[in-house]
Amino acid sequence: MTRRFLFVLGSARADGNTELLARRAAEQLPPDVEQQWIDLAEHPVPDFEDLRHDSDHVRPTEGNLALLLDATLAATDIVIASPLYWYSVSAHTKRYLDYWSGWLRTPGLDFKATLAGRTLWGVTALAHTQPEVADPLVGTLNNSAAYMGMRFGGVLLGNGSKPGDVLNDTEALTRAKTFFAQEAPPARFVYED
Ligand SMILES: Cc1cc2nc3c(=O)[nH]c(=O)nc-3n(C[C@H](O)[C@H](O)[C@H](O)COP(=O)(O)O)c2cc1C
Repeated sequence: MTRRFLFVLGSARADGNTELLARRAAEQLPPDVEQQWIDLAEHPVPDFEDLRHDSDHVRPTEGNLALLLDATLAATDIVIASPLYWYSVSAHTKRYLDYWSGWLRTPGLDFKATLAGRTLWGVTALAHTQPEVADPLVGTLNNSAAYMGMRFGGVLLGNGSKPGDVLNDTEALTRAKTFFAQEAPPARFVYED
């Protein structure tokens, strides 16, 4: 199967550090790897409504939700490119992930079976200079991948506050060069280790 990377951009501003870092990493992907980039701020979706125990979710057939669902199902590799907001993923990103819960219960999608074995990656920019403060974001993505039976490639972190700052984080730019070449093992919950 040809690899197809979906980059889900979750910043609340354009051309931010997270996207810059993600693009640096993506530049290293071989040319035969397909890339799709979706900026969630440019493709707004309504707040997620939890219908799981009331009625069936229905597959969206048009609009931004259909675009996101189709792109998610088509990707061998999903890259959550979210800035660190309050030590976790941004609201745009969280809303996208909440929709996964609906898609898990949407008849005919086989969402979990489709994503199982595929790979989740993370890219984030943060203002704090100690990367440990991003542990909640890393845990969110690792646990989500484990729940879905996916592989987890880890999170590429870069430092910066105003747009462009991350380009001064030379260690992050170095990590970006090999980030997607790393092996992505099957994700495990911490209690499984
Ligand atoms: C709503 C909000 C919450 C933030 N929370 C944190 C945080 O918890 N820790 C941190 O280090 N930086 C935090 N920041 C700073 C951003 O992570 C930083 O500016 C980052 O470069 C933004 O990424 P972007 O340029 O891709 O939008 C926050 C910024 C905003 C707007």
